[in-house]
Amino acid sequence: MTFAANTINVQSSRLPFGAQYDGRFKGKHILSVSQFDVHDLAYIFDVAEEFRMLVRRIGVMDLLKGYILANLFYEPSTRTSSSFIAAMQRLGGTVIPINEVRYSSVSKGESLPDTVRTLECYADVIVLRHPEVGSAALAAQYARKPIINAGDGIGEHPTQALLDLFTILQERGRIDGLTVTMLGDLKYGRTVHSLAKLLALFRVRLIYVSPKALEMPAELVDALRARGVCQESHTQLEEVLPETDVLYVTRIQQERFADQQEYEQLKDVYSITPQVLRAAKPDLTLMHPLPRLSEISMAVDSDPRAAYFRQMEYGLYVRMALLALVLGKA
Ligand code: CP
Repeated sequence: MTFAANTINVQSSRLPFGAQYDGRFKGKHILSVSQFDVHDLAYIFDVAEEFRMLVRRIGVMDLLKGYILANLFYEPSTRTSSSFIAAMQRLGGTVIPINEVRYSSVSKGESLPDTVRTLECYADVIVLRHPEVGSAALAAQYARKPIINAGDGIGEHPTQALLDLFTILQERGRIDGLTVTMLGDLKYGRTVHSLAKLLALFRVRLIYVSPKALEMPAELVDALRARGVCQESHTQLEEVLPETDVLYVTRIQQERFADQQEYEQLKDVYSITPQVLRAAKPDLTLMHPLPRLSEISMAVDSDPRAAYFRQMEYGLYVRMALLALVLGKA
């Protein structure tokens, strides 16, 4: 599959593996989806697709042999953390894993700028997850090596959005013309914030379904409206499910609520079950960044429309591409 002209309307031809890449991401930070245009996306996805095929064919390569990734996580993670580790190892590199900062000098009060300046003495690239919005941008101010934002509080999760878009392309073959419905915690959900911004680069219809208390932030909706993006908001999924091509479900995130009573009231507000999916299109693509709680029943997992496990695997190839690109090795 190619992600160039026929899928995302980019005029460039596909870049075959081993061809002359223009090095546009070499040494760059990956902080926000706002830094990408459709040409960048085609470029990243072509590299990711090459890695998808290479992993299937040969498993491990030595493209990043001798390179070191520092994986710095101030918040819990299973997918992002382990897929970056796997991505680096599949490319032949090695990893300094700091998945539990309380066992690092952060617990002694070391600042983020100092932690980053320490790790870049030992590593070539730093992946950072942090609970505060803007933390990746702050780290980037002090870093000489590339910083990759792996989630900054309720701000952004750009590598998740890239893998989400790659998943939609893999599953649907196109983005233009799709109706994408985002469901659940749209207020605190950084994955939907990033994905909505990326989808705004295409001709899509965005539908937001959430309780009133968890609506998509007004600034984001206003910014997309100013760019002419077709958006609508609902509280009931039934109103829009039959028209939906891609249903992107999110968890109601207990860790983001100051008021735990409010969380208890909202946590089970939506649940995708086989019965609910009877009203959906036969070719629906059902996605979730995971982890999930009760918002998608496990009884749905065997439905071919459930793409969330495939989505996780696509994340490996996108993160391989990002590591190779920022290190100038694609
Ligand atoms: N989707 C996602 O970011 O998962 P983790 O929190 O497990 O990394």
